[in-house]
Amino acid sequence: MKHVLVVGSLNMDLVVDVDRLPQTGETILGSRYWNSLGGKGANQSYAAGRAGAEVCMLGSVGRDSHGALLLKKLQEANVQADMIRFDEERPTATAFVLRETSGANSIIVISGANQGCTPEYLEQHENCFKWADCLLCQLEIPLESVCSAVHKAKSLGKFVILNPAPACTNLPDSLFRLVDVITPNETELFLLTGKTICTLAEIVDSAHSLIAKGVKNVVVTLGARGALLVQKDRTIHIPGYIVNCIDTTGAGDCFNGVLASELSAGVALEQAVHIANAAASLSVTRSGALQSMPSKHEIEQWLRMGVEQKEG
Ligand code: RIB
Repeated sequence: MKHVLVVGSLNMDLVVDVDRLPQTGETILGSRYWNSLGGKGANQSYAAGRAGAEVCMLGSVGRDSHGALLLKKLQEANVQADMIRFDEERPTATAFVLRETSGANSIIVISGANQGCTPEYLEQHENCFKWADCLLCQLEIPLESVCSAVHKAKSLGKFVILNPAPACTNLPDSLFRLVDVITPNETELFLLTGKTICTLAEIVDSAHSLIAKGVKNVVVTLGARGALLVQKDRTIHIPGYIVNCIDTTGAGDCFNGVLASELSAGVALEQAVHIANAAASLSVTRSGALQSMPSKHEIEQWLRMGVEQKEG
């Protein structure tokens, strides 16, 4: 069984390529401006679909060309997108992405129709929760909707992955107990725990404070340094890959989508993190968010090639 339900955002990314970010009060020249499909929910659905899972997505778009493009693209990766709602008042969400030459990015999201992904709408689609083996959520839709989705999935005995992105400081304690795997990056881990995290030992310590709150497994994504799997009684560092990084936008989403795909297929967590880490490293060698997600075949080829990994 490989049924993944993604509850989350769908955005149109407006990307500006810059050498570096402007400082406050400074004007700089960018080199290019382009549109690209994105949104953490859409990216993760697409990544899971490309990685081989059967995916259903719940979310909300505006009745506009951006929304139509997003739905069409998701269907190309066999993502069931027909339950995604159309918001009659708000436009499809927009993300303003400043992409630096190094591949790093800064993003501002205007939520628009994502606000229409409400608990009431999710309640109408209980059948999707029943169908799924695994629920994957992020935090780009209203927090009450995330809580409602997680509660619903858990009440049906489903596996729950929470990607706490964008970073958030006010997750209710009751949520942590329902999460099987939480996948913060370092910034998100800092904001969730309030603990300084400079060294790997400090990251492990912070991850343990989430385990103390009831989360079963913490997977910290470390960018170029790979990922850290922290469980109550063991920690495993999976190193990053040596790649030519072009664009990190959506790399975390690739990681989460592939992780959900593998876990829903019954792959053990440590191995699933290995595969997700490899897929994410491949995604950063390509431009854009949703369009950078690798297929199952590409991930397998990448793993077979044995691209060099670096400790760190
Ligand atoms: O994680 C990357 C995504 O964050 C982008 O696609 C953008 O839409 C924002 O949601």
